[in-house]
Amino acid sequence: MAGQLLWAVVIVLLITIITDGLGEGEAYVGEACNPSDLKGLTSLKAGIHLDTSNRLAKWSGRSCCNWEGVLCHNTTGRVTEIHLAGFISNDGLPFQTQMKGWLSPDITNLSFLEVLDLGGLIGLTGRLPPLMGWRLQRLRKLYLFGNKLSGPVPESIGKLSKLEELHLHENRFSGSLPSSLGYLNNLNQLQLHSNEFRGVIPDSFTNLTNLVQLDLHGNLLAGRIPDKIGQMQVLEKLDLSDNLLTGEIPLSITNLSSIKELYLDTNHLEGTIPFPSSSGQMSCLGFLRLNDNHLSGRIPSSFGYMTSLQRVSLSNNKLQGAIPSSIGSLAVLTELYLSGNQLSGQVPKSLGQLSQLLLLNVSNNRIRGPLPKELSSLQNLQRLDLSFNHLNLLSFPKWLAELPSLSQIYLAGCGIQGELPDFLRSTPSPIQELDLSVNQLHGSIPSWLGSLTQLYLLNLSLNAFTSTIPNSITNLQHLGVLDLHSNKLAGSVNKVFDIENAFSDASLTHVDLSDNLFSKGIEHIGKGGQSGIQYLNLSHNLLEASIPTTIERMVSLQTLDLSYNKLGSYLPEALANVSTLEKLKLQNNRFTGAIPKGFLKLRKLRELNVSDNLLEGEIPTGKPLSNFPSSSYSGNKGLCGKPLAPCKA
Ligand SMILES: *[C@@H]1O[C@H](CO)[C@@H](O)[C@H](O)[C@H]1NC(C)=O
Ligand SMILES: *[C@@H]1O[C@H](CO)[C@@H](O)[C@H](O)[C@H]1NC(C)=O
Ligand SMILES: *[C@@H]1O[C@H](CO)[C@@H](O)[C@H](O)[C@H]1NC(C)=O
Ligand SMILES: *[C@@H]1O[C@H](CO)[C@@H](O)[C@H](O)[C@H]1NC(C)=O
Ligand SMILES: *[C@@H]1O[C@H](CO)[C@@H](O)[C@H](O)[C@H]1NC(C)=O
Ligand SMILES: *[C@@H]1O[C@H](CO)[C@@H](O)[C@H](O)[C@H]1NC(C)=O
Ligand SMILES: *[C@@H]1O[C@H](CO)[C@@H](O)[C@H](O)[C@H]1NC(C)=O
Ligand SMILES: *[C@@H]1O[C@H](CO)[C@@H](O)[C@H](O)[C@H]1NC(C)=O
Ligand SMILES: *[C@@H]1O[C@H](CO)[C@@H](O)[C@H](O)[C@H]1NC(C)=O
Repeated sequence: MAGQLLWAVVIVLLITIITDGLGEGEAYVGEACNPSDLKGLTSLKAGIHLDTSNRLAKWSGRSCCNWEGVLCHNTTGRVTEIHLAGFISNDGLPFQTQMKGWLSPDITNLSFLEVLDLGGLIGLTGRLPPLMGWRLQRLRKLYLFGNKLSGPVPESIGKLSKLEELHLHENRFSGSLPSSLGYLNNLNQLQLHSNEFRGVIPDSFTNLTNLVQLDLHGNLLAGRIPDKIGQMQVLEKLDLSDNLLTGEIPLSITNLSSIKELYLDTNHLEGTIPFPSSSGQMSCLGFLRLNDNHLSGRIPSSFGYMTSLQRVSLSNNKLQGAIPSSIGSLAVLTELYLSGNQLSGQVPKSLGQLSQLLLLNVSNNRIRGPLPKELSSLQNLQRLDLSFNHLNLLSFPKWLAELPSLSQIYLAGCGIQGELPDFLRSTPSPIQELDLSVNQLHGSIPSWLGSLTQLYLLNLSLNAFTSTIPNSITNLQHLGVLDLHSNKLAGSVNKVFDIENAFSDASLTHVDLSDNLFSKGIEHIGKGGQSGIQYLNLSHNLLEASIPTTIERMVSLQTLDLSYNKLGSYLPEALANVSTLEKLKLQNNRFTGAIPKGFLKLRKLRELNVSDNLLEGEIPTGKPLSNFPSSSYSGNKGLCGKPLAPCKA
């Protein structure tokens, strides 16, 4: 009895699964499918020699409507959809699978195909079949992104009059964009980014009046943005970034009344920003990137009309004039990047109204001081960069240190004088990044610095600090970047290496103590065990003693500059174990003896300089040592061999 009930449940479940799972295909399950479709699918399978998902292994027999990933029409029995995307969701757990092989052109024999999804399979090679536009007339959705397909997109693609979505991004397509694409009147998503398309964007693209998303970023497209771009009335996302586009931004862009995301950055665009020309235009625009172009003129004061703006980047252009005060009315703005322009005038008071603002970067402009006190109402500001303007602040503004969310402060080249202000030790939000480089700070590096336990970046370079490095620096477990170069700091460099002694999971990667008056502590290098430091510059100091053998624990070191010190004795063989080294600068010291043979193991070394030391003997023969110019070795006591003169027998 219980057994029968169980069977009944199982049968009902099976029926449910079959009905739900196969939808349109149900009528054809178990029957031989259309011979032409069968051949097309068999060819597709034959081209693929690796399928980590094992789906194709189960493609056998003649009832192809029954195969995993294949859907047939419920009355005609023809194959209408192929779903073999690389990303699979199994019991709610998504995972990546892969197919390797060749996209068979016989896929075009599946003439009733409406959806072809071979997206993200990583390893599919071959070309788009030249006849696909003629033979797959019913195609609505084509996903072939994330593969290794190459060659041009065939002109015939413009025949796919029912196509709604075309996703070919992240392949190796080349050639130019077929202008016939512009005839696909039903297209609403077109993603061809991260390929190698050259040529221009065909004018006919502006015929794609149903397009909602157009993404062509990361290609090699040159020429101008088509003048009629504004015809694409339902376009919500336009991404043409990271191409070689020239000319001006067409005026018609103001007609993109549905646009939400506009990315034209990293091109060679010039002229002025033409939008919006009146209130109400582009009123849905939330994300705008025009950075890294050659745009000039002023930031239009009409910017304030685009009240949906959340993130704006206009950095690295040639924009002039004042920051328009209308920007203060962008109530939902969270990120504003204006750095690297020629903006002048003062920071407008109205910016203080940007209550949602998280990030503000106005660095490298010609902004004058003083800073308006109104900025003290930026309750949510976390990161602020005002470096390299004409602010001439004289002192660090106390109200700035009192902003409740500010933790990343960049005020390089702001004309700040005096000592490092005490109030920085107790800011409402713990400081994570502090760049006060290129100011006129003097006095000592205070020992309270060790209480900034969230500190990740400290840049006090190019000031006039005169103390030692405080012992408390060894409390800074999260310190990653320490730049104190070009001050008048003295004493020992050991504390920096002691951070790694104190915390086995220290974060330090970049240390620049160059151009100071340090004389001691080199023997602490590598003392804390394996080190994560990638960049170490101790050059232009007064360091003595020899390089310790513990240097071999610097297992991440790419750049080591110890030049212009008074270091001596032999070059340790242990240095040869630092196989990550790319730049090694040891010139102008007092090293003696021979260059260790082991240096031939430094296969990544691109730059070497041991000139002006007391080295002798034969330069070990072979790569990379023989490849450096003779000036890498000049000014020593007795070095010989390639690239210098041969050694005397
Ligand atoms: C696909 O169609 C073409 C032209 O009709 C034909 O020559 C070819 O043999 C077909 N391929 C298969 C695998 O059926
Ligand atoms: C076939 O599919 C269509 C729509 O997909 C549906 O309306 C129709 O009822 C189905 N016919 C059968 C026999 O299942
Ligand atoms: C597409 O645009 C081209 C040139 O911009 C035009 O000549 C052609 O008539 C348009 N085609 C359609 C189908 O709208
Ligand atoms: C914007 O669209 C309107 C109406 O469709 C049209 O009259 C106008 O010329 C267009 N503006 C530009 C700059 O293309
Ligand atoms: C500000 O922008 C410039 C230029 O884009 C960039 O180099 C700098 O890192 C930015 N500052 C911060 C704090 O992110
Ligand atoms: C520190 O500041 C100087 C001057 O502003 C700059 O050149 C240097 O790159 C900065 N250091 C780091 C590690 O960012
Ligand atoms: C090390 O610092 C010196 C002086 O600050 C500088 O000139 C040199 O370029 C730096 N070395 C490297 C490899 O960055
Ligand atoms: C360093 O290299 C020497 C030989 O050149 C080798 O004997 C030694 O084990 C190496 N040390 C490490 C830590 O790899
Ligand atoms: C090495 O340093 C010396 C200065 O001691 C300099 O003249 C020479 O150009 C440098 N050579 C290379 C290859 O960096």
